[in-house]
Amino acid sequence: MQIPTCALSSGFEIPLLGLGTWRLADDECTRVVSQAIEIGYRHIDTADIYGNHIAVGNALARFDRSSLFITSKVPHTQLACDDLIATCERNLEELQLDYLDMYLLHWPNADIPMEETFGALKSLHDAGKVRSIGLSNFIIKRLGEAIDISGLPICTNQVEFHPLLYQDELLDFCHSSDILITAYAPLARTEALHNSVIKAVAAEVGKTPAQVCLRWLVQKGIIVIPKTASQQRLRENMDIFDWELSAEAERRIDDIPEHKRLVSMEYAEF
Ligand SMILES: NC(=O)c1ccc[n+]([C@@H]2O[C@H](COP(=O)([O-])OP(=O)(O)OC[C@H]3O[C@@H](n4cnc5c(N)ncnc54)[C@H](OP(=O)(O)O)[C@@H]3O)[C@@H](O)[C@H]2O)c1
Repeated sequence: MQIPTCALSSGFEIPLLGLGTWRLADDECTRVVSQAIEIGYRHIDTADIYGNHIAVGNALARFDRSSLFITSKVPHTQLACDDLIATCERNLEELQLDYLDMYLLHWPNADIPMEETFGALKSLHDAGKVRSIGLSNFIIKRLGEAIDISGLPICTNQVEFHPLLYQDELLDFCHSSDILITAYAPLARTEALHNSVIKAVAAEVGKTPAQVCLRWLVQKGIIVIPKTASQQRLRENMDIFDWELSAEAERRIDDIPEHKRLVSMEYAEF
């Protein structure tokens, strides 16, 4: 099964499903990333702060680089020009890569001018070290500021997004600005799997609650990066592309009244 891709505003394509790697470490991380690629995953999501670049890189080294899409993220403490460039170069070395497909600002930083940060990203891009750039945990106000000064297309905003946190206003803003949303914690770290609407829809369509959550997201044009360490769940999470939720089922999930945020936005709202 080939995972469908979506066009980025940079001109590159991103696979709609990726593997999240937060909390995967050492040999387990290398094993899971290898297994994922062996069964057809092409998109791997990591970050400097996950501390697993070397383990991820040991898996990537076994595969054809050109078929893979690798995202990493620079911490918000490293957004000054020299810090950002040095972090990216270290990240590439750890991952054993010549370039990243996507480099994200993990969080905004109120104390560092965005012009400086985007200048650093532009020089990495122009040097061929970063193909596409994006943001993470940016609220609409910050996104608007970033769009005005970025100098490069902002391809994605990676945010918490799942059926218990339907951020329709942010989704509309991003899509009207040609920015794809990447949903982190797309299963709400398993909490969404116990929701009664999700369970009911899953029973009706003969799929698992996790597949219903992921399908609901990709059907809205949202990229998903569920994390799993289980080979069986790697396969389960991939099996979301040859069936659909009806408009009625999708609306019932849209209407879940919960607004449950698992990751605090205290760094993002200034
Ligand atoms: N940009 C950011 O600030 C940010 C923040 C958080 C996360 N992220 C990224 O987003 C990725 C995903 O988010 P997340 O790891 O927080 O949460 P998640 O993907 O919503 O949930 C992961 C949890 O779900 C379980 N799981 C996975 N597939 C399952 C299935 N089919 N059935 C039942 N349980 C399943 C996993 O357990 P098993 O491993 O046991 O299967 C794990 O406990 C991260 O790994 C990371 O790459 C980014």
